[in-house]
Amino acid sequence: MPHEHDQFPTLTLFDHPLIQHKVGQLRDRTTSFRPFRAMLAQVAGLMLFEATRTLPTLDETVETPLERTGVKRIRGAVTIVPVLRAGLGMADGVLDLMPEARVGHIGLFRDEETLSPTTYLSKLPADLDAGPVILLDPMLATGGSAVRAAAMLKEAGASDIRFMCIVAAPPGVKNFAHAHRDVPIYAASLDERLNEHGFICPGLGDAGDRMYGTFNQRSTAEP
Ligand code: PRP
Repeated sequence: MPHEHDQFPTLTLFDHPLIQHKVGQLRDRTTSFRPFRAMLAQVAGLMLFEATRTLPTLDETVETPLERTGVKRIRGAVTIVPVLRAGLGMADGVLDLMPEARVGHIGLFRDEETLSPTTYLSKLPADLDAGPVILLDPMLATGGSAVRAAAMLKEAGASDIRFMCIVAAPPGVKNFAHAHRDVPIYAASLDERLNEHGFICPGLGDAGDRMYGTFNQRSTAEP
């Protein structure tokens, strides 16, 4: 069962065996691009079940082949927003389950020295406030990127935001929760620490590099 974290009240962690099994494979440095991308999408899809638990619904009626009955429908237009690049891998899994969702894009990269994020893309629906927004980025390290991305969503009008990541480090959770108390965080794992380069340890390397094969020496050695 997913459970809220004692120290971080806005954080929900997943101890489901299937999610943990796949996270283990994501961590494994011998997992190559193709299965890595597939599993990133699958973990996001599995986590989505919980992250959407509190989506608002509308009551409607439909005719079944037998009779009229009440049904529920998700209220408003759901928008998913992957943070480029690595969030794209999670977006694939979410769209498999919610193909009707709209997709906004936020492009951020971290300066390797200062670790602060630079924005290079923001393409969001004009009416972002028309429904819930699900922000996607596999890694919450210092939190700089996610804090910036959520602020951009709020500036664009979003009021119901949920953030899904795969691995989180304590400083990132702390910073994000401090900046965005109203945004729940869903993470498959809370890892131990950040290393001196700001990488999550034990982590899974740089998810973007592992998805797309753009390895550098600090983040991930090519298998
Ligand atoms: C990684 C990751 C997050 C960010 C996390 O992206 O995907 O966006 O770093 O770090 P933070 O919490 O300290 O901000 P990166 O900058 O490597 O870009 P990429 O996805 O294009 O590789």
